[in-house]
Amino acid sequence: MSFEFNVRISYTGFVSQTKFSRIRNRLISWYLKNRRDLPWRRTRDPYAILIAETMLQQTQVQTVLPYYRRFLHAFPTVEALDRASKEKVLALWSGLGYYRRAENLKRAARIMTRGHGGKIAREFDALRALPGIGPYTAGALMSIAFNRPYPALDGNARRVLTRLFGAKGEKELHTIASRLVACARPGQWNQALMELGATICVAQDPRCPLCPLRRFCAAWGSRRSLRKKPFVTKPSVEKVQWPLVVIQKKQKVLLRRRPAAALLGGLWEVPGGERKKGESLTAALTRHLNGLGDIVNDSHLVGEVRHSITHRRIRAPVFLAFQPGKEIHPGPGWRWVPLSSLRRYPLSSLSLKAIKLVQR
Ligand code: ADE
Repeated sequence: MSFEFNVRISYTGFVSQTKFSRIRNRLISWYLKNRRDLPWRRTRDPYAILIAETMLQQTQVQTVLPYYRRFLHAFPTVEALDRASKEKVLALWSGLGYYRRAENLKRAARIMTRGHGGKIAREFDALRALPGIGPYTAGALMSIAFNRPYPALDGNARRVLTRLFGAKGEKELHTIASRLVACARPGQWNQALMELGATICVAQDPRCPLCPLRRFCAAWGSRRSLRKKPFVTKPSVEKVQWPLVVIQKKQKVLLRRRPAAALLGGLWEVPGGERKKGESLTAALTRHLNGLGDIVNDSHLVGEVRHSITHRRIRAPVFLAFQPGKEIHPGPGWRWVPLSSLRRYPLSSLSLKAIKLVQR
């Protein structure tokens, strides 16, 4: 005689234990055959996994690959990251965006060196207490590095579970994810779920005929619900205009450094700033140029670049100016940087895009 246990996933819904274990087995065997060979899947070093998971939070795998290699080469351990200058850490992050991630890693490295002997904490709550480590990263570390059954719900995993079970809210999603991850290889399971979301159960036009879980899938069963958005609490989006001016002299550009205490402090940027309501683009630029505003009169608009950062959608009209006859002396915090040395400067993503635009 066999007993079937059902797991309550919502007030009205139940899923059988058997269904959970079938889903798990099928997905894990699919993953073992189809997973991409990625460097952070070849290591059990918690520090390397922390770096990978932090980089992957807002960035695609293909973009992360070279950054991950360079970063670990330069800072192979928690102590090395702690000892490094903030400038060097930001320079190696330059182009990945969301620099707050790098700043937090550095702060976490300091705490781990001082308080944990340079080791990554092995407890969920201790990980969560570190700067920049949210429930996703803590869950990923606990499961992938320490083989403990904690869910790691990134956007891909959320979408897969929402479609598969028709989950209707955070609580339901969490109940399902916690059940599924309670298995022998939680890290493998979490990565399998994310991999399915990244390669098959993609947001637009999912490749359902190739999906190993199709026959268990609530959305596939009802077809139309595949188009439904997965459950996520979306922050409202703020649209911002941010005119910039690339000032050139021969093969150099004029950059300024953001004050240490400001958001993205320590990064270098092409001068410019947010336009206020009712202000013209050039008036905004002049205001943000601290005394160099005259140069705006000699600049011309060359195009626009865009960038999204957390809840802000930034559109940046890009002006180009050449240093006029008289030498500009921009003062401390400003520097003429040769185009060939830009790679050594931690540049904001928006600035990199603007410089690329004018070089075209
Ligand atoms: N996205 C973020 N981390 C991942 C991982 N470890 N495997 C697959 N996709 C991921």
